[in-house]
This record gives sequence, C-alpha cells and structure tokens, in this order.
Amino acid sequence: METISGAAVWFSVLICICGVAAAFGQVSYSIPEEMSKGAMVGNIALDLGLELNRLNSGNARMYSGDNAEYVALDKERGVLVIKEKIDREALCGKTTPCALHLQMILENPMELYRITVEITDTNDNAPNFQRTQMKFEISESAVTGATFMLEKAVDPDVGINGLQSYVLKPTENFVLKLHSQMDGDKSVEMILQKPLDREEQGHLTLLLTALDGGEPRRSGTVEIHVTVLDSNDNAPIFTQKTYQATMTENAPKETKLATVRATDADSGAYGAVTYYVSSPMSELFRVDPRSGDVTLTGSVDFEKASHYRLDIQARDQGGLSDSCTLIIDVLDVNDNKPSINILSMSNSVSEESKPATVIAMLNVNDPDSGKNGHVRCDIDESIPFAIKSTSDRFFSLLTDDTLDREKNSEFNVSVTCSDDGVPSLSSSVTLRLQISDVNDNSPVFERALYEGLVGENNGPGLAVLAVKAHDADWNQNARVTYLLEESSINGAPVSSYVSVNADSGVVHAVRSFDYEQIKSFYFCVRAQDGGSPSLYSNVTVKILIQDQNDNAPQILYPIQSGGSLVAEMVPRAADVGYLVTKVVAVDVDSGQNAWLSYKLQKATDRALFEVGAQNGEIRTARQVTDKDPVKQKLTVVVEDNGQPSRSATVNVNVAVADSFPEVLSEFTDFTHEKEKNENLTFYLVLALAAVSFLFICCLVVIISVKIYRWRQSRLFCQSNLPVIPYYPPHYADTGRTGTLQQMYNYEVCMTTDSRKSDCKFSRPSSQGVLIMDPKETLRRLQKEKDLLEDLDVSEEVRTVFLYSSYL
Ligand SMILES: *[C@@H]1O[C@H](CO)[C@@H](O)[C@H](O)[C@H]1NC(C)=O
Ligand SMILES: *[C@@H]1O[C@H](CO)[C@@H](O)[C@H](O)[C@H]1NC(C)=O
Repeated sequence: METISGAAVWFSVLICICGVAAAFGQVSYSIPEEMSKGAMVGNIALDLGLELNRLNSGNARMYSGDNAEYVALDKERGVLVIKEKIDREALCGKTTPCALHLQMILENPMELYRITVEITDTNDNAPNFQRTQMKFEISESAVTGATFMLEKAVDPDVGINGLQSYVLKPTENFVLKLHSQMDGDKSVEMILQKPLDREEQGHLTLLLTALDGGEPRRSGTVEIHVTVLDSNDNAPIFTQKTYQATMTENAPKETKLATVRATDADSGAYGAVTYYVSSPMSELFRVDPRSGDVTLTGSVDFEKASHYRLDIQARDQGGLSDSCTLIIDVLDVNDNKPSINILSMSNSVSEESKPATVIAMLNVNDPDSGKNGHVRCDIDESIPFAIKSTSDRFFSLLTDDTLDREKNSEFNVSVTCSDDGVPSLSSSVTLRLQISDVNDNSPVFERALYEGLVGENNGPGLAVLAVKAHDADWNQNARVTYLLEESSINGAPVSSYVSVNADSGVVHAVRSFDYEQIKSFYFCVRAQDGGSPSLYSNVTVKILIQDQNDNAPQILYPIQSGGSLVAEMVPRAADVGYLVTKVVAVDVDSGQNAWLSYKLQKATDRALFEVGAQNGEIRTARQVTDKDPVKQKLTVVVEDNGQPSRSATVNVNVAVADSFPEVLSEFTDFTHEKEKNENLTFYLVLALAAVSFLFICCLVVIISVKIYRWRQSRLFCQSNLPVIPYYPPHYADTGRTGTLQQMYNYEVCMTTDSRKSDCKFSRPSSQGVLIMDPKETLRRLQKEKDLLEDLDVSEEVRTVFLYSSYL
C-alpha cells in the first residue's frame, strides 16, 4: 500500500508542477488520506523553484486558516510533510473532491504561495448499519409480495469506496429490492416471495450484508429477526384417535386414568387447547381442561359396568376442535365375598342314615368375575361330612361316614366358601346338626355277675342287692326297665324267691330263706330299654344264703322214744374208760353253727360216767362197784357253737348189770307210763286251747276276708287297674311227713305303673287259709299229733309254729 500510495504521490506531484508553472505561485498536490505522520506530501521548494536558503531567510511558514494544521513545512528539506493524519471523511464528508487550501508565506520579500492539497479517498470505511439487528413481526398470513423496508447501511467513503450493494441470506422467503432514491442513495426493501408458516418456522434470522466497491471490498452486516405471527390456521389434533386405559374397580377418586393430548400447531390463543368430555359420563370421569388428565370422580363397580367409553373434545380458542375416544376397561377386583344361602337344611339326622345322605343344600354367590368369582367350599375334615358341588354355585352337604349319636350327638358343621382371588375372600356359615337317636344300644350291666348275700331267716322284702344297667342311647331308648327272667328254682318259680324293682333294679327277697333248704340260687335279670323295638340284655344274679344258728342239734342216737325203754348195759366188771354208748347228734346248720360239743348235764352218779366233749362218747370214769345202782340215768347236753348257741338234751339210761333179767326187774318201775300220761295231758290241754282259739280266729278271719274282698272289688271298679293277685299254692300239706314245707303265702299286687309297684310282703294271706270247721280241725290235729309222736322234740316245736302260722 505504501508503494501504491507513493506512486500516486509522485504522479500527482508531476501534475502539480505543470499547474504551479501555469498558475503563479501555486502548487497542487494530491495525497491519499490516512497518510502517516511525517510522510512527505511534496517537495515544495523544488516545485516552486525556491532555494532552500530562501525558505529559511524568508521565514517561510504555512497558513491553513481555520483548518487544523494537517500539513507542515520542513524548511530544511524544502518539503511538505504530514503533520497530522488526515481522515478525508472527517474533513470533507461526502464532498468531493476534498482539498486542503494552504498558503505558504515568505518574507523578505513577502511572497504568498497557494498550495492545494487534494485528499483522495481510500476505502477505509466499511458499510455500517446503525443497529446491530432489525426485528420484524410478520403474520404467517402475510401474502407474497409484501414489502418490508430495511434500514440502510452507511459507508462514509465516497465513490466506488462507498456503499455499492446489499446481499440478503438466506433467500428462501424474502428477496431484496433496491430503489434508487432522489439523493442517489439506495433504499433497500425486503419482499416476501414465499408465504411464511409459523408452524414450520416460527422465527427466521436473515443476514443482510451491505457491500462497498472498494479494493478490497468492505462489508457490514445486520441480523434481521423475523418473528412469524400466528394465525388460527390449525385445528387441534389428538395424538391418538382412540385412547385406552385400564383401571381397577373401586379405585379411589382422583385416580388419574389417562392423559389425552391434542396438539394445535398454532400458538398463543389459537394453539391453547382445552379439553372436555362430550359424552354424558361426566359424573364419573373428569378431564382436566388444560392438562388433558382424565381422572375418576365417582366410584366404578365392575359388577355394574366393565368398560366405559368416553368422548373427549379438544378445542382451541379460535373455535377449531377435534375429538377422540377414551375406552376405559375396568378390571375386576376381588371385592365381593361369596355369599352363602342355605336353600334347605335338616336340623337333625338319624344316626343310622347311610353315608351320602344329603343334609343341606347351599347356594353360593360371588358377583366377581373370573377367578375372583370362582368359589370353593370346604368343611372341617375331621367330621364325618363332605361338601360336594352339585352344579355351578350349588353345593350339597352330605354325610360321609356312618354316624353314631353315642359318640357325637351334635355337630357344628362350619362351611367355609372362598373364592380364587388374590387375596382370596371367604365367608362361612355354621350349620348346627343334631344326630337323632336310634335304639342301637342294648342296656349293659355294670357287672357280668351279681352276687348277693342274705342271712337266712331274713325278713321278706329285704333288699338284697341292686343291679344296674346303662344304655348309651338317649331318652326313651335309654330308659332301662329291669325284669325278672322266668325260671324255676327247686321246682318253684323264681318269682316266689325274689322280685326286682323294675325301676331301680333292686332285688328284694320275697320270702324268708332257709339255709338248710337252699344255700344259693341263680336267676336272671333282664334289662330292657324303652326303644321300639326294645333291646335287652340279661345278667346272672347269684344269691348266697348265709347260715344262721337256727337249728338246734338233733340227737340221732340214742333214739328217744317215749314208749320203749332202752338202756345201755354196762357190765359190772367194766374197766375204767369202758365205752358205754355214743351220743350221736347232727346239726343241720353249717360251719360253727354245726360244731357240736357234748356235756354231761345230770347223772345219777356224776363220778361214774364221763362224756367226750368232741365225740359224745360216754365212758366209765371209774371202776364200777357193786354198790352202784343198776339204774343209772344220764342227761347229756349237745350244744352247737353258734352265737347264741342252741342245744339239745338226751337222756341215756344205763343199766349196770351183768344179765338182762336183772335189768328188766330194775326197769319195770320206770316212770315211762307216768311220762306218757304227762305228755298226753299236755297235748290234750294244748289241743283244747287251740281249738277254742281257732274257732274265735275263724270268725275273725271270715269277717276280715269279707271286708277285704269288698274293698278290693271297689278298688277294681274305681281304678280299672289290672290287679293280679298271686296266690302261690298252699304248701302246708299235712299229707307229707318229715320236713316242713313252705308256710307263707304272699300276695303280689301289680299296678299299671310297674315302676311304682311295691310288693306287699309278709302278709299271711287269709285267702290261702283253709276254712275248717272245728271238728275237722280237731280231726286233723289228732292225726297230726299221732304223726308227731314219731317226730323229734325239735320238730314238735316247729309243729307248734306250724299251727300258729295257720292263724
Ligand atoms: C355348637 O355350637 C353351639 C353354639 O355355638 C354350642 O353351644 C355347642 O356346644 C357346639 N357344639 C359342638 C359339638 O361343638
Ligand atoms: C340271656 O339272653 C340271651 C339272649 O337272649 C340268651 O341266649 C341267654 O340264654 C340268656 N341268659 C340267661 C342266663 O338267661
């Protein structure tokens, strides 16, 4: 650049020389602007033809008038130099040409030279925009051809260095158009050549470049910001035509189900979309107008509706809208318990029902769907029942096993029904079931054998023992009645021995037992329940009769006959210990009661005989002497060991003699006759007393029988009770001798209620009595007396007893 400008300087100097030559005292120079300080403008001395001395002597100086001193004179060298940098634009602005008019003044002689320094332009300024950016807001609806005035750029340079052209980039939507103006300036316009679309590009940035023509070219740029203004040219559009949402039933309110979204390419109000539900379902669902969130506002029950269809509209504020559909599927939640309904139910079931007997029918409902509504029912495994599904939702409860009321009389069958949901819901019901009784158990005695002990001579009616049987059944089926099984003991029916209280099972003796006749006996008692048919079992009862010392010993030998005279002979030569005789006695009692001991009670000569206490042997105690009388009479007492003991005495006649005639002579005065007479007298008195007593008694008996019969007939009539008098046969058969027979008669009265029955014991029956006239009685008594004469003494006593028992 220096060289270029230097060449230009020299060129201009040459021209000026010509000019100086022509014009008196005047030179012109042409220099480019912006020359550096000290740069030579022109050799003024040379150009003006002045000597350097002249410059000094003439005190040459420059005069620039008002202008600042841009150029100075170097007097030494005779040249003009740049004193201050010259900016053409500052000096002249747009004015061309631009020149500095200077005078050089010389003194001695005063001379004035006019110097013109023309400043030529250099492209030192770029076109410049005042603002760094320009802003436009253009509606997208602007039509093509619309013009927008742009700000001009300014380039202070002139000529070719000044502003030459504009360039706009990019050029898609706009083109530039330059208009030459009156002042030669060019105004610049931007013309819309392609419509704007805000939705496509809401903002454009263009770069406007202003160029000058200098060498090199300089440029200035400005950014043009174009904001595309919206117009409602777009309707909202849902992102999907159909939305799908699922929700569980019973979801809480305000649960967000889905978000619908519509986009509106417009901006501002035209692009602000509001949503609303257009189908009539607004009580259940709500769509947020701004966000498009669909929330639940009511409660949804799957059992009522399993899905919903919701129409939603989106609308911008320009009135354009779109719609979509939201399909909400409701998912079932296991929110319903199965409900159990008892269709039919039997409250009690017989214990003999067969397995698989239906007891109850159930209907189970669960409104839930699928697994949540699939119901299973169970019962406790341990009870003999089963539950079966007969058909969908119907169940029947059956017996699964045989039932036994005696083990379980009642069941609480708890039926639990649960669905298959997760978690599963269940409900249960308890069925109370009674097992009704069937008479399937017979009474069972507590013992296999009962044994009772009775002392003989017991009072009739004595309670001997009680049998007891239990029946496992219930109520009437368990009500045990005791009956005496018919059998016979020694030919007599068992009922004449014992009776059994039907209710209590107490066994009573019916008669007084005699150990000497019967020591024990067995009979059977049947226990029978009240079922229909009734069941029974029997048990053997053994009655043992205990001995009492009721019998005195009986002397078998020597035989005590009133008439004959028996005597034992003892020879006079008999030694000490000679066995005279042996008293033989028996006792029909047993044990201690039959242990006999013998004692000598009376004797003619106590010293002569002794009696063996154990064996009853009568032996001589000393040597028999001649002085001993022939007739010896001994009385031996036989005692048993009972408590109290009983005894019998026997008289033994002993003849101490060597020959029978001796004995006979001695014994003729034996008081046998007297004794016999005494006996006879006794019997006669006794018979007389008895006859008269009998007569009175007969009268009394007849009267009382009459009264009794009359009463009983009244009882029959009144109560209609089946009174079965029982009269055992009369045993006082006098035709038989030896042993005594049964002497009691009993009357057993049964009433309808056998439980309450009581046997009437120990009541001599007047009806069993033979009614005899006194003569007949006397005859019989006589006959009997004759017989009795052959009997033992003890039996005489019994005979008396016999007679009295008739009464
Ligand atoms: C059955 O239930 C009832 C009442 O809840 C109760 O009284 C009875 O004892 C129960 N029976 C059984 C066998 O558990
Ligand atoms: C008990 O009863 C059974 C059956 O009825 C019978 O076979 C048996 O002989 C009875 N026993 C007696 C001792 O009566």
